[in-house]
Amino acid sequence: MEQANRAQWRSKIGFILAATGSAVGLGNLWKFPYITWHNNGGAFVLIYLVSVVLIGWPIMMAEILIGRKTHESPVPAMEKLGPKGWSIVGWLGVLTGFVILGYYTVIAGWTITSFISCIQWSFSGYTPPADGAFGEFIGNGPLQILLAFIFMAATTLVIWKGINKGIEATTRILMPVLLGILIYLVIMVMFLPGRADTFKFLFNPNFGELPSTGILEAVGHAFFTLSLGMGVMITYGSYMGRGESITRNAVMVVFLDTFVAICACIIMYTIIFSAPGVAESVSGSTVGMLFITLPDLLYTEIPFGHIIAPIFYILVAFAALSSTISLLEVIVSLFIDKLKMTRHQATIIGSSFAFIVSIFSALSLGAVGIFSKFSFFGEGKEGVLSTLDHLAANWMLPVGGLLITLFVGWKLDKKIVEEELGLFNEDGSPKFTYQMFRFFIRFTAPIAILAVIIAVILGKDFS
Ligand code: PFF
Repeated sequence: MEQANRAQWRSKIGFILAATGSAVGLGNLWKFPYITWHNNGGAFVLIYLVSVVLIGWPIMMAEILIGRKTHESPVPAMEKLGPKGWSIVGWLGVLTGFVILGYYTVIAGWTITSFISCIQWSFSGYTPPADGAFGEFIGNGPLQILLAFIFMAATTLVIWKGINKGIEATTRILMPVLLGILIYLVIMVMFLPGRADTFKFLFNPNFGELPSTGILEAVGHAFFTLSLGMGVMITYGSYMGRGESITRNAVMVVFLDTFVAICACIIMYTIIFSAPGVAESVSGSTVGMLFITLPDLLYTEIPFGHIIAPIFYILVAFAALSSTISLLEVIVSLFIDKLKMTRHQATIIGSSFAFIVSIFSALSLGAVGIFSKFSFFGEGKEGVLSTLDHLAANWMLPVGGLLITLFVGWKLDKKIVEEELGLFNEDGSPKFTYQMFRFFIRFTAPIAILAVIIAVILGKDFS
């Protein structure tokens, strides 16, 4: 089954860096702090950690093993392992890739302007933006298209260069820098008075304060943040060598992603709690906390804020870039494997199509009326960008994830799973980790995902 000429990660940590790069992104630095805030902290964090272990970890293992077993991208991988219809998982993944890339690049583009503004403020003094400035900024269609283009172009360049010279070389630099910046920022905020309130808020669970939808929201977010349900981990797993431990790699990626998400909360909340009276009035929108409240506080309330601010937005930009890289790679690897294109052809065609979707998203934030008002999922989700986010996070990823659990848990030959994971004692008995994995992938994960899907059908929004 091995493909002789398929690229492989060169270094032992090549997979971990690339997969963590995919997982760590706007989901950790933008979405998680926001949803944790709105779900009142402690209890939500605990539920989230449980979901990551019970659902995220086994699906991560399942996706990697499909990729590593076949050394193929998701569609041919599923065709090799299962009866015909299962390749739908791969096609759905590619479609989800276009959907997510089509709005993620727009939001990622905002980090570029935030960074530039911060550099200006750090050197020539802070001038608070006028009320409504952010609305005006996102309503500027040509600017939004340009920013999304810059982001898409950077992503395209990396994918153009291939697995080793592109993805591996880039994430090898980005990930250590990102972790370094993150830890530096955590240390910096530890000197602020708000740290005690932050730890209490995050690690002191009070289930009375958890909104009823919190559990399902935690499960839904686990998919998005770990890049599960659309074939990223199948694709990256397909470049993994035989000698590597799937379990160890999966645990590392899940751990690092969670670590970054918690650190992001510590950084943002400590800044918020350190500014008197701000905690009550944190901007109510998802974008508000990261792009409006935070820069203002950094420059007005926080010692050394002028140093922290630009560094922080580089961190967010790097994190977003290593995620968009993985989204485009899923699309490109399918074009190469299935449509027999060269990498360069596949990269240009894949990113051009994704960019066309981005244009619609970029114009849907006020610039063009019909795109801004376009509503498929009803009130509160108007506009192309919100619609795509809702579609991917609430429908496509959970459905993709559910299919993976059913395939690996119930359909795929048990021997293949055992061979790939290799979790057996010398006497041939399965290790506890294997039994746990088997139970989670067959029962816990599919049942929890079904609960999410039913909740979504009944009208709950996780995006
Ligand atoms: N995991 C990324 C984040 O947390 O921002 C987003 C993402 C990347 C989702 C790749 C899905 C994916 F396939």
